[in-house]
Amino acid sequence: MLERHRGGEEYIAEVVDFGMNGEGIIKLDNYPVFVNNAIKGEKVKIRLTYTKKDYAFGELLEIIEPSPDRVKPICPYYAKCGGCDMQHISYERQLEIKRLHIERTLKKNAGIEIEVLTPISKNQWKYRNKLALPFGRRGDRVVLGFYEKQTHKVVPMKFCPLHEDWASNVIRIITEWANENNVSAYDELALDGFLRHLVVRKLDRLEIVIVGNGDELLNRAELILKLKQELGDYALYFSPNKARGNVILGDTVEFISGNQSAQDILGLKVKLSPLSFLQVNLDVMKALYDDVARQLDGYDGDIIELFSGVGILTSSLAKRMPRSTFKAVEIASEAVEDAKVIAKNAGLRDRIEFICEDAGKYMEELSDSQKKKVLIVDPPRKGIDSNVIEKALLARFDKIIYVSCNPATLGRDLKALQDIYKIEYIQPYDMFPQTMHVETLVVLTKR
Ligand SMILES: C[S@@+](CC[C@H](N)C(=O)[O-])C[C@H]1O[C@@H](n2cnc3c(N)ncnc32)[C@H](O)[C@@H]1O
Repeated sequence: MLERHRGGEEYIAEVVDFGMNGEGIIKLDNYPVFVNNAIKGEKVKIRLTYTKKDYAFGELLEIIEPSPDRVKPICPYYAKCGGCDMQHISYERQLEIKRLHIERTLKKNAGIEIEVLTPISKNQWKYRNKLALPFGRRGDRVVLGFYEKQTHKVVPMKFCPLHEDWASNVIRIITEWANENNVSAYDELALDGFLRHLVVRKLDRLEIVIVGNGDELLNRAELILKLKQELGDYALYFSPNKARGNVILGDTVEFISGNQSAQDILGLKVKLSPLSFLQVNLDVMKALYDDVARQLDGYDGDIIELFSGVGILTSSLAKRMPRSTFKAVEIASEAVEDAKVIAKNAGLRDRIEFICEDAGKYMEELSDSQKKKVLIVDPPRKGIDSNVIEKALLARFDKIIYVSCNPATLGRDLKALQDIYKIEYIQPYDMFPQTMHVETLVVLTKR
């Protein structure tokens, strides 16, 4: 950093690149400044807000020459909400930024130079089946909203363009119930008040979880009555969470009222614990899992799947591959129980062995007879632990199918695997439009 670059100073400069969160990057004598809401190619006026030795952050003051890729965000909360990063960028450009982001990350983290295709997309808006919002206070009213960027101040919201209309409806119903019955919102500084988060999943019906700072759901009778009147078909749960910190759901979830019967996902009869993982964009999930099935076309051997969740991928593959048997390894016991029911309902239970265990521990115990087969991994954002990678190297699988939701950890893991495995296929999927996140399917084969 040159001495003259200090916080508070203003500059006019061209945006020369984009960063990993969709922000623009300008260079002041090679000193990178990250500017939210600025697009590559634009001439902008900025103010430095935070300076470090090697980089700084700047605030966008004025767009002097806008990019042809700039569009008007459709969400009134976009400037304040931390949920989306890319609503100001045309959708075609968003896809191109994600494509380049993966290409560059693989080069930087793994030294892999490979042409990455444009992410496959199915929808731009109203795609999320899951809503998670904090409760807050506005005067003496309880509100639901989002945390203003980089703060824990709850800004009230009435709708979100990433969800269908059910989201506005449930926000209204729950805040009305809280205010009609004087159920207080949690205050994380004073550590008092009850309502912490609302978590909702929409499949055939709404599955509503109230997260509260207490052992029991307050005013439950009034809430049940309101949900029956307003929604008819619903499932209501309570999750006690008295711990400090940012974790949304508590360790347990209690069913309170409503309909818990199975719902349909990809033709599977699914009953899910609110604690179990489900992809948030089912249209893209279907396209991605169809692609995984295509990559296994003609294979009728056995498959080991790590990080199998509730086994939507496992069961949908098992349906299409009647001669294969599966071992599905997942650490969360609720997800494993849900997975067993899904497989049983589909008549697949005798061909899938569900193992509730840490993926690394499972791989340590892997017998020689199970090696050389196909390994599928669909890990969380932190990627695969190094002990799993070590075992995958020793086991020399014929094929590894890696479904990743984080290009950075994907790059790190591919670097570790590349002596033994080479990339045969790589295809991103836009699971999270309007945000910088992207899903990537990679097929590796033994060299
Ligand atoms: C991205 S989801 C996989 C979803 C799954 N493929 C499906 O079709 O529903 C990742 C899963 O990995 C599980 N997980 C996280 N850490 C794990 C570990 N160390 N060992 C095994 N499973 C783990 C999580 O509980 C979560 O269900």
